[in-house]
Amino acid sequence: MRKPGKTLAPAPFDADEVRRLAEGLKALDGALLPILHAINDRFGHVDERAVPIVADVLNLTRAEVHGVLTFYHDFRRAPAPRHVVRLCRAEACQAMGADALHAELEKACRGGPVLVEAVYCLGNCALSPAALIDGKLYGRLDVAKVLELART
Ligand code: FES
Repeated sequence: MRKPGKTLAPAPFDADEVRRLAEGLKALDGALLPILHAINDRFGHVDERAVPIVADVLNLTRAEVHGVLTFYHDFRRAPAPRHVVRLCRAEACQAMGADALHAELEKACRGGPVLVEAVYCLGNCALSPAALIDGKLYGRLDVAKVLELART
């Protein structure tokens, strides 16, 4: 069973480590979920390359493991972004250029470590355009300032 507080920092994919985690938990009832949680916790996501290893250890088909992996939203299937920018798209921020800012940020951040999401009013309308960057509220933003804050 998954133990809170036992999570290590995400690590690069390691097939031997995946097999070791799976072998260590395979005796549990319903071992697939604890194994997928352990892999998700260890690597920050469940890489597609882990599926055949887990299937082999549990004597399941790849399709069975893949089915469980994709059914539950708890499991990330790609590395988590290192920074999250939640940019306000509500009226006051729109009036101050949030739509253009959002488009520029999406272009600048595509495929990188910064995820840009839309939110609707952060209660910081007087300092629009506003955003939460890694959970901290900022205002009067432009692209350069957002990228600087998200990379620090
Ligand atoms: S409309 Fe953007 S913070 Fe309120």
